[in-house]
Amino acid sequence: MNIIWNKISGQFHLYNERISYIIGVAPGGELTNLYYGKRIHDRDDFSYVLFRMGMPNVVVDADTESYSMELNRQEYPSFGTTDFGTQAYEIETVNGSRISSFAYKSHKIYSGKGSLNGLPALYADDSEAMTLEIVLEDEIAKVSVTLFYTIFDRFPVIARHTRFTNCGDSKVRLIKALSCCLDLPDQDYEMVQFTGAWARERMPQTRRLCNGITSVESKRGVSSANFNPFIIIKRPNTDDFAGEAIGFSLVYSGNFIATAEGGTHGRMRILMGINPDRFTWILNGEETFETPEAVMAITDKGLNDLSQTYHRLYNNNLVRGKWKNQPRPILNNNWEATFMDFTEEKILRIAKKAKEAGIELFVLDDGWFGERNDDFAGLGDWIENPKKLPQGMAGLASKITAMGMKFGFWIEPEMVNPNSNLYRRHPDWVLVAPGRKASLGRHQLVLDFSREEVVDHIYNMLHKVIYGAPISYIKWDMNRSLTEVFSNELTSEEQGMVYHKYVMGVYDLYSRLTEAFPDILFESCSSGGNRFDAGMLYWAPQAWCSDNTDAIDRIRIQYGSSYGYPIASIGSHVSAVPNQQTGRSTSIATRANVAYFGTFGYELDLNELSEKEFEEVKEQIRFMKKYRELIQFGDFYRLRSPFETDQAAWMAVSEDKKRAVVGFYCLRANVNTLPGFLKLRGLNENTLYKMEDGEFYGDELMNMGITLSRFYKKGFTISEDFSSFVTVLEAKE
Ligand code: DGJ
Repeated sequence: MNIIWNKISGQFHLYNERISYIIGVAPGGELTNLYYGKRIHDRDDFSYVLFRMGMPNVVVDADTESYSMELNRQEYPSFGTTDFGTQAYEIETVNGSRISSFAYKSHKIYSGKGSLNGLPALYADDSEAMTLEIVLEDEIAKVSVTLFYTIFDRFPVIARHTRFTNCGDSKVRLIKALSCCLDLPDQDYEMVQFTGAWARERMPQTRRLCNGITSVESKRGVSSANFNPFIIIKRPNTDDFAGEAIGFSLVYSGNFIATAEGGTHGRMRILMGINPDRFTWILNGEETFETPEAVMAITDKGLNDLSQTYHRLYNNNLVRGKWKNQPRPILNNNWEATFMDFTEEKILRIAKKAKEAGIELFVLDDGWFGERNDDFAGLGDWIENPKKLPQGMAGLASKITAMGMKFGFWIEPEMVNPNSNLYRRHPDWVLVAPGRKASLGRHQLVLDFSREEVVDHIYNMLHKVIYGAPISYIKWDMNRSLTEVFSNELTSEEQGMVYHKYVMGVYDLYSRLTEAFPDILFESCSSGGNRFDAGMLYWAPQAWCSDNTDAIDRIRIQYGSSYGYPIASIGSHVSAVPNQQTGRSTSIATRANVAYFGTFGYELDLNELSEKEFEEVKEQIRFMKKYRELIQFGDFYRLRSPFETDQAAWMAVSEDKKRAVVGFYCLRANVNTLPGFLKLRGLNENTLYKMEDGEFYGDELMNMGITLSRFYKKGFTISEDFSSFVTVLEAKE
């Protein structure tokens, strides 16, 4: 890995073993992208790739009269110039002008990577990454822009963000401030987006790109289940196993936009960052604004390779603290077993059985506080309900830990019910526009987390519950989108800051809680996967992936999530049947076979199972304890897509390629068809692997494949809906 600056041409070449990223300074002083792709040799000057030609209806730079930004690739394009594409930022000065052009001023190159102010971001030590900071200035607007580029040694990854500084005395308004722009030289691309809704999150959808705009965004205040802040730009023939693709992942949990814009001269522009809709940031003299980080990863080896890059990168350079690269505890959560209808006695009964099964962590979900006996009351009153927890959280936690399990509980700190003491005391603490009614979502209102005193108050209440009690885990939920986004504390011109300040308030609370309780494992949640993003992973290494716990639906949800997020981050549990969301019944084996490929746990009362099923559960827990490290942190391969076939398959391979776990699922039986073969991936061709019914070479398994009928004796059959198998491969010494 290195970053070369060529003094004469003024060009920067960032490279590692796999990639090159080359930036030049154009005649007007703005930055131009010269190349992004597979590693190439360095040379003194790459400006031969620039187009300097007169073209009809193209406006050119006044000094050279030959150079147009429209025909060349921009690094961070602005409004009002010879580039007519979508701009990466927009600033308005006091005279009402939104025209700006930033010219190169200086740069810095250093080892390692800095942190971002209050924002989650990748981190790296001096041996892992190098960073280039380029300072650009607009002397008229008196604003400077610093573009940050970090290249990683081990990964084909460039992380980018931008810092704006008001260098003058007059106020400027930042109307738009995206995290990155990448111009590609042709348009032969598709965009894969991860779309959905509650209970059907992150379904991949592919659109052909062409002239004009293709975009996904969130305006809900959270990253959302509707569109995820992760997209893939790929060649039409790229699939999981081969081909070129570039991933864009935003380390942010609020409103975002990701846009692909085909220009009329063949350029394809990709932009990503905070959604400019309803965003304005006021910058007074000397003030700065930092955008969230966008992480670009590139491959010419297909989407499994791209996903593996994100998995390794996020496991090693985003997730922090005690739980970094740590196998996740197998948990039992009481939500689907009791909902809010529980007593301590009932919880202890469930916990006792959980312990007997081998569960390591017991989680008490919603309903333990205030008057919280249904959805209508209690949020905001983070004090134990003595009828349910007579000795408080500490009392229950001690009883569970005395059984030999860890203990954790549920919170939803950003919310308040109108029927709560907190709301009665502070009705002005919610987001609501003056004179208007605040809309309700699940009978609750959103606290104004842009206000420090609100965050302080919630922190103090939660601190009291956690402090002194043996708490190992917290599930942080967030169950509605933001509406009537107006803060009582900000001035009229500052209202465009509320969405982002809200997110910063959430990050602030996360930061304080994770600092005060560094050993606690946080799991983020937002009605399932409504805020499943890289920003959250910085604070909470795992996320409840969906409220839909039906094994068959979960295959698709987990498959889709795996494109951008590590398996160790995907919260997945076995729940009761018929499933509460779909009414579907699947065997306990299939439910576990799906849930293994995630954090793994149970969302039911194990007392309700038959003796036979309970014995199976014990075996499942033993299996997961043995293989979870490999499944959660090994190289994950999607093998057969449930979006394209009636079957699904995936596998995880250990780094040394000596062990692998394969999962295969029949979503829908097809009558009178042959079982066929499943080709495995990522093995060592010359290694002999032991499977439950024989020994096979890696090349056989990858090229010929495994015969699926071999697993019929385990109860799996492709002529039966929802049957599945999981099998293990171990290299022979
Ligand atoms: C939504 C979550 O996704 C569920 O798992 C559960 O925690 C409920 N909220 C509790 O209200």
